[in-house]
Amino acid sequence: MHDFRVRDGQLHCEAVPVLEAAERFGTPLYLYSHHTLIDHFRKLRAAFAPVTPLICFAMKANSNLAICRALIREGAGADIVSVGELRKALLVGAPPSRIVYASVGKTAAEITAAVRAGIFCFNVESAPELEQIDLACRRLKTRQRVSLRLNPNVDPHTHTFISTGRGTDKFGLDEATVLRLFADSARYAGVDLAGVHIHIGSQITAPGPFLAALHKALTVIRRANRRGARIRWLNLGGGLGIVYHREKPQTAAAFAKVVLPLLKGRGLRLILEPGRFIVGNSGILVTRVVYIKDTGAKRFAIVDAGMNDLLRPTLYGAYHDIVPVAPKPGQTAKTQRYDVVGPICESGDRFAADRPLPPLAPGDLLAVMGAGAYGFAMASNYNARPRAAEALVMGRRIHLVRRRETFQDLVRGERIPAALR
Ligand code: LLP
Repeated sequence: MHDFRVRDGQLHCEAVPVLEAAERFGTPLYLYSHHTLIDHFRKLRAAFAPVTPLICFAMKANSNLAICRALIREGAGADIVSVGELRKALLVGAPPSRIVYASVGKTAAEITAAVRAGIFCFNVESAPELEQIDLACRRLKTRQRVSLRLNPNVDPHTHTFISTGRGTDKFGLDEATVLRLFADSARYAGVDLAGVHIHIGSQITAPGPFLAALHKALTVIRRANRRGARIRWLNLGGGLGIVYHREKPQTAAAFAKVVLPLLKGRGLRLILEPGRFIVGNSGILVTRVVYIKDTGAKRFAIVDAGMNDLLRPTLYGAYHDIVPVAPKPGQTAKTQRYDVVGPICESGDRFAADRPLPPLAPGDLLAVMGAGAYGFAMASNYNARPRAAEALVMGRRIHLVRRRETFQDLVRGERIPAALR
């Protein structure tokens, strides 16, 4: 499942002791396994091989250039949500013909930039957005492929903040609007309205919600085609759940096994937009214990990473395994309960509550597992903390893929006006 394993009593990333990486680059440190990353991509590709889908990596999960480059080199495309991601995708050599662009709030400038770049398609989330794309294309005297994002009104049974396909969520278009826009496609000379997109949420572990959404999408496609549309592709979005704790998510193969028969004979090209499934378990956050504080009520392990480095536990109450990197001999024997907390001035700055861990001491290294997706990507400079370094292990070698930020990075762009001097 991933290439972070305890060998000779020490946590390794592929062939590299995590301790060695932490000593070389300092902590907090994001450490990625190239093999795990590629392996997950290949598993998905193999599962869907009979229909050779376009697999667009959701860059929002992790847009480090090295991570994206590794996937593009494997033949992935990119699922983007901003011009920043567009430019990063192009920088790492993503062919524009493999880029799809979602987001409820694409501005006119962003739309123009993506049309100019020649992306494969936009996933359109509102009627005014469609008009904006149409306008941009007519101005640029070009035509752009477009998918309509259907909101299938399905509850994905995941955290409410990452549920996107319920009728009350801001994403996508209701069925009636989708059908109306397809029926009116002649009005939009600048766009080739030829795809349907769904993405109902993230970290979905059961097949039920995916299937319910897929059935709705197929029904809408059938209805639209009956009324004259010519829908040529279906984008199933991302959302495949991974193991953080005790989840039993469907495998890529099991997912393909239920999806593929439903697509048979429909002449639809398949697009997938996974983020977490590919990169989630490919990364860890390495952090060092600074102090131990026992208050009687709680035993705190205060570490040098904070919610600014990894927001998921604070924002979603997300569970991440925490593993000692280099336990001393005998240290693993008996456990104690710790709240593993960061240095940030908020009580929510906590990676784990009452977590059984071997007795910890200042200086000990811990690995927060499953931090490859939405980890560094959601990091901030809160509390004026420079963002962590990122390193990528490829077999026996470690490559620094983002240097740790410095104080200069923190103040770059800020100015004190003359009036205050
Ligand atoms: N496609 C669209 C349109 C999306 O909005 C997303 C994720 C994906 C694909 C990729 O989903 P994935 O395969 O990674 O589940 N920060 C949250 C997750 C937010 C997901 C946002 N959209 C977290 O840390 O759990």
